[in-house]
Amino acid sequence: MDSIAIQGGNRLNGTIPISGAKNSAIKLMAASILTDQPLLLTNMPRLADTKFLGQLLRQFGVEVTERDGADGQETLFHAREITSTFAPYDLVRQMRASFNVLGPLLARTGHAKVSLPGGCTIGARPVDLHLQALTALGAEIELDEGYVTASAPNGLTGAEIEFPFVSVGATEHALLAAVLATGTTVLRRAAREPEIGDLARCLVAMGAKIEGIDTDVLTITGVTALGGTTWSVIPDRIEMGSYAVAAAMAGGEVRLTRSRPGLIEALIARMVEAGVEVIPTEDGVIVRRDPAVRLKAVNVTTEVYPGFATDLQAQFMALMTLAEGESIIHENIFENRFMHAPELMRLGAEISVHAGEARVTGVEALHGAPVMATDLRASVCLVIAGLAARGETTIGRVYHLDRGFERLEEKLSACGADIRRIGGDGHEH
Ligand code: UD1
Repeated sequence: MDSIAIQGGNRLNGTIPISGAKNSAIKLMAASILTDQPLLLTNMPRLADTKFLGQLLRQFGVEVTERDGADGQETLFHAREITSTFAPYDLVRQMRASFNVLGPLLARTGHAKVSLPGGCTIGARPVDLHLQALTALGAEIELDEGYVTASAPNGLTGAEIEFPFVSVGATEHALLAAVLATGTTVLRRAAREPEIGDLARCLVAMGAKIEGIDTDVLTITGVTALGGTTWSVIPDRIEMGSYAVAAAMAGGEVRLTRSRPGLIEALIARMVEAGVEVIPTEDGVIVRRDPAVRLKAVNVTTEVYPGFATDLQAQFMALMTLAEGESIIHENIFENRFMHAPELMRLGAEISVHAGEARVTGVEALHGAPVMATDLRASVCLVIAGLAARGETTIGRVYHLDRGFERLEEKLSACGADIRRIGGDGHEH
């Protein structure tokens, strides 16, 4: 199994181009099932998760062609004919979001059998809201031996759906199913994450009728068929936020490009409060920090968008380990999402965790040590901490990192980081 070795202490100076968003790409890929016309996704990140979902789509008969385009990597999806509507456990368990193929398969063919998901080990993460939404749209759903079998022989029907709380996945799933339903669907307390806006706009470009995009009420008027389109995946705000925090933690000056500062406003506000200089630019931000000046501790509470993203909580906690004072971090979205805390403590951080709250008391310095990645965002938090720690940090189980960060070592090395990948055979890559 690969690991990553970092010799900490180097400043970061340079430019990092931000890739297309993983969390948008995988939903857009699922949308390709809805049409027999080609869907071309540009600005596609090449990640373990997108590769994996590509394999699952091929199982359904979707042609998937990866290629280099004028604007970077792109992938053409063509679901001319759906030849299978079965998603086996072995494939779905590897990536929770692949469960979201259920709605589009059902909407296109009237039937699907999809395994219940696995995914990151951050809390229970049930799919009850997804199934309630599909049921409201007229699907008949049976749960048996870990599988969901859904059918709607006469098609789905529009409905009023009020989610009991905000769920990104359930909102997207309902949207993907409702675009081909008969009649009007209203989704209340819908999630407003930018990736949902991206999906909704792409669906509109394919011929869907959706009102209220970027608000918490989405109104969808079903159409009988969707067409193809070419769509550029929105920049990855979590990748951008992670590198912004990395630059702040290591010190130096890094320009993040091919993105939008508006996507990480809540993070920028907290970073500025802590004493980091963050300058918005036309296509990203410049993050500047003099490492001789100590950062101040600030408190953070994770919230649904546009609040502080749960996917940036681990990274921000890493930053706070070196700040002056005590920082209180509340995790509101997921239970059990502080698994990075004990690993940061191995590097010398002082953190105490009680239920959904972590208290971080800043220390003068972190010291390199072997640590273990537990989930995707936790792994990048350990990379960030390793960049600032004295000596060598090695991070095991980096397959988590490969799920969501494209060419991470290359992007950080280009800014002066001493970071290497060590293969399972013990050799450097
Ligand atoms: C998505 C993102 C993930 C991010 C999260 C919150 C993708 C692929 N993943 O995950 O990176 O951290 O949004 O911004 O886009 N819940 C239920 N029942 C359900 C659905 C969710 O109880 O049917 C709970 C979850 O356990 C969690 C909360 O609702 O506690 C929010 O989850 P949700 O917004 O659905 O997150 P995901 O779509 O899984």
